[in-house]
Amino acid sequence: MKTKYAILFIFVVALVIIEKESSILSRVSDKLIQMHNPQQTPQTLQDSSNTTPRSSFSVLKVLLSKLPATHGNYTNLLEERHEEVENVGNSKHVLLMASTRTGSSFVGEFFNQHGESMFYLFEPLWHVERMLFPAAEANNGTLLPEIYRDLLQALFLCDFSPLEKFISPPPQDHVTPDLFRRESSMALCEEPVCTPEIKDIFERYHCKTRHCGPLNLTLASESCLSKRYRAIKTVRVRLLETLQPLLQDLRLDVKVIQLVRDPRAILASRMVAFSSKYQTWKAWAQDGQVPEDNEEVKRLKGNCDQLRISAEMGLSQPPWLRSRYMLVRYEDIARDPMQKAEEMYKFTGIPFSSQAREWILRNTQSVQEASGIYSTQKNSSEQADKWRFSIPFTLAQIVQKVCGPTMKLFGYKYVEDEKTLVNKSVSLLEEKQFHY
Ligand SMILES: *[C@@H]1O[C@H](CO)[C@@H](O)[C@H](O)[C@H]1NC(C)=O
Ligand SMILES: *[C@@H]1O[C@H](CO)[C@@H](O)[C@H](O)[C@H]1NC(C)=O
Ligand SMILES: *[C@@H]1O[C@H](CO)[C@@H](O)[C@H](O)[C@H]1NC(C)=O
Ligand SMILES: *[C@@H]1O[C@H](CO)[C@@H](O)[C@H](O)[C@H]1NC(C)=O
Ligand SMILES: *[C@@H]1O[C@H](CO)[C@@H](O)[C@H](O)[C@H]1NC(C)=O
Repeated sequence: MKTKYAILFIFVVALVIIEKESSILSRVSDKLIQMHNPQQTPQTLQDSSNTTPRSSFSVLKVLLSKLPATHGNYTNLLEERHEEVENVGNSKHVLLMASTRTGSSFVGEFFNQHGESMFYLFEPLWHVERMLFPAAEANNGTLLPEIYRDLLQALFLCDFSPLEKFISPPPQDHVTPDLFRRESSMALCEEPVCTPEIKDIFERYHCKTRHCGPLNLTLASESCLSKRYRAIKTVRVRLLETLQPLLQDLRLDVKVIQLVRDPRAILASRMVAFSSKYQTWKAWAQDGQVPEDNEEVKRLKGNCDQLRISAEMGLSQPPWLRSRYMLVRYEDIARDPMQKAEEMYKFTGIPFSSQAREWILRNTQSVQEASGIYSTQKNSSEQADKWRFSIPFTLAQIVQKVCGPTMKLFGYKYVEDEKTLVNKSVSLLEEKQFHY
């Protein structure tokens, strides 16, 4: 009797392995075929690998033999890939790529609140920026995108050791009280990662809702490995193309959601949030003159250009991004958070959980005045248009001037005069469907 079960068990395991390998293989073959024959759909090969599950090598060999020899030598690729294939789990990885003041913390919560299968990290790259900023400046920032990408890769694989090098002061025995915004990650604030009732030497607790001691990164890593879905929110990745190797890593299944917002609204919001840094803008608004060759204006233009270049790349769907890129406008989320959340979940292939649904409901309904003051809940569609009353028209104009192509791509309408800017019945949002 026992042997029967043992054989059945082995059979099931074998089936699972075959199933996994064929899905990876179809991704490899899609990529290879597309590299060589952009017009041809990869359907034929995928079909044959589905009906006759063969070992990874035989399918790859067939595939390689079909490729024109002139296009290169794939011996290396085969070997590298084989190593990686063995590491694959069926987890899913979401990278929420945003910039500051685009509602990314809010949207990150859509995933953080998913429930017990989710491991969410809030801005882990903050540590890199803080530690390297002076050096990176000297280095004109050329290395930063690679460091970011490699760190994201390690974190999606639940390896915290590269991140540890950037945490200051350095963790002791992989334990740190200093992980940036740990409390923003549910997985890091629940058991077993939360070690209850242990205060650190400064008598601090490290989570909002629970008493947890300093963070044991070994436990964090174990928790991460036990979760099928992993999501990271970051405002620090500037160009989508720098992520290519991350998206091609066969140990992972990364999907990128790029979150954008009207650049006029971003400027208005930054002027409120980082008031002292934006004194020059305020001065310009006062005297109605904006020097276009000013560094601040150039930086604004640079940021807008990077957003546009990334989105253009994503929307053009090169093979490495096919079905892996989604563009979402903050304003569309504000208008209908539930609908957009549903679309985002559908895109990632992660089931939309009832917990996430409930969180969104609780946090987007309008608030009664009576319960007002202490509530953090917001009526998000009303919030989304508030900037129009706080930004001086002169500044809206300069944004339109330097961010024109970006605004056009995302469907943000220009205003020609101050009256229109503050006229609530004029929508500044074009209805726009982005194809993915
Ligand atoms: C392909 O590359 C491998 C390793 O670089 C080399 O050993 C092999 O001879 C090459 N094959 C051909 C056909 O060039
Ligand atoms: C940054 O520095 C590298 C090497 O020092 C140089 O090759 C590159 O052109 C520089 N890039 C910019 C944008 O200045
Ligand atoms: C951190 O957690 C690991 C895994 O449970 C454990 O072995 C280790 O002792 C913990 N570290 C400290 C300093 O408590
Ligand atoms: C939020 O406010 C807008 C504008 O006042 C209103 O149309 C909308 O119904 C409100 N949404 C909710 C969920 O209460
Ligand atoms: C606001 O815009 C609407 C639609 O274009 C227009 O009918 C209305 O007169 C405008 N209101 C003001 C105060 O300009």
